[in-house]
Amino acid sequence: MLGPSRWAQPAAASQQPAVSSARRPTAWTLRRPVQQLSPCPVTHNDNARANLVNVCGSSGSIPSSNSQTKFSPTAVRILSGSSAGSASRPAGLILPPGVRSAPVAATAAAAEVVASVGSSPAPEASRPAADYRGHGLDGPILWLGNQRVHSLSERGREVMQSMSNWAGKELPRYLKSAERSWQPADLLPDSASPDFYDQVAALRAASANLPNDYLVVLVGDMVTEEALPSYMNMLNTLDETRDETGASDTPWAHWTRHWTAEENRHGDVLNKYLYLSGRVDMHSVESTIQRLIGRGLDPKLENNPYLCFVYTSFQERATRISHGNTARLAQYHGDLPLAKLTGLIASDEARHEAAYTAIVAEIFERDPDGAMLAFADMMRKGIVMPAHFLDDDWHTQANGKGSNLFVDYAAVADAIGVYTTNDYADIIEHLVKRWDIGNVKVVTGEAAEAQAFLMKHSERIRRLADLQMERRMRDRKRGKGRTAAFSWIFKREVALG
Ligand SMILES: [Fe+2]
Ligand SMILES: [Fe+2]
Repeated sequence: MLGPSRWAQPAAASQQPAVSSARRPTAWTLRRPVQQLSPCPVTHNDNARANLVNVCGSSGSIPSSNSQTKFSPTAVRILSGSSAGSASRPAGLILPPGVRSAPVAATAAAAEVVASVGSSPAPEASRPAADYRGHGLDGPILWLGNQRVHSLSERGREVMQSMSNWAGKELPRYLKSAERSWQPADLLPDSASPDFYDQVAALRAASANLPNDYLVVLVGDMVTEEALPSYMNMLNTLDETRDETGASDTPWAHWTRHWTAEENRHGDVLNKYLYLSGRVDMHSVESTIQRLIGRGLDPKLENNPYLCFVYTSFQERATRISHGNTARLAQYHGDLPLAKLTGLIASDEARHEAAYTAIVAEIFERDPDGAMLAFADMMRKGIVMPAHFLDDDWHTQANGKGSNLFVDYAAVADAIGVYTTNDYADIIEHLVKRWDIGNVKVVTGEAAEAQAFLMKHSERIRRLADLQMERRMRDRKRGKGRTAAFSWIFKREVALG
């Protein structure tokens, strides 16, 4: 998994408006007053969820990692015509624990757009009257600190339950068995061979011309893949589709375990390749992996499979693009074994993308309004990169206040064309076509508003990508191009744009 940008949430938890129970319920308001819960174990069945409120009460503390960030007036102006949000109220950004300053986006333009358009629902008066009960996002929502949880509605639960047979029949064909899969050992020097040292020497010779900026991106990609425990964990937070035992025989649990097993090869092969290349500081890289897994990720999925499968559809395509471009550049720099390896990873990601987009297409069939609201919700929040909590405990200190390892890594990826803001827009455009958003028949006013928002969303991102490029060119002309040192490459500096 890999992907662009960062995300914003509608408002910091402490600023969530209290919702009157008399107010008309929508997918964006709650049917019951918000419960602020202190972090405590969460279970998924209805009784347990009801009890959670009672057990945890309302005295929970709110983590202090939230922060508000303003976005450029130009970005806000471009987006102010959107019916989806109030451009005058930029969203707050959640920061990982211990990060004091708000990260500037890797794909800065995309971050501005998600922050601006995702800032808040339309004013109540401008919303069409409709009954939103029964769609995928208006479930019994609770709060754990500042995190919204369990938003899947009863209708959404029924939809996911009804898809169990479909998942059992359709999803296995997107998987490859261990017997049919490549393994890292197939692509790396054979440590049991008498030629092992010669093979390693050949690998090192092939990697000798990879430039520093490329290495930063390759390490970032590898670290992201190595944080796989967090992604399996994420899938197993989902209501109705989680693997309840770790060895459950439901179709959803089967998919999750086998998807994870396939993904596990990605970080493994990249890690071993980089270790053998001798081009990077492995201690720094490994400690970054440990920190990232310890921090987890928070893409704001609310235990909701509707939201999660939109997220994974986006992420798998982002990863495919990113690894594909990494392969292309490896070839350009003369490292053909690396080009082959990253190309094979990209083809796995393409298969995973096909599976996740098929799941969402099926949700659209069974609950068009719920699926539409889920897609728009994730786009408004912005698709957070899985490694958004990246930290090496050195970068910010070394590069000055405001520097952020994740943001700088993603800026390099953007600068060398591995993953750009325009890629982010391309993915939106692709998903809009894949799910035939323009022709989905929705019944509620809010879903229709979401549909209209989605049809124009890639355009907004592209306009902001243009702005980002203009800014970058202007800075270069003025000799103001930024650089940053990365511990992963022995503290050498690379350009950020
Ligand atoms: Fe992967
Ligand atoms: Fe993947």
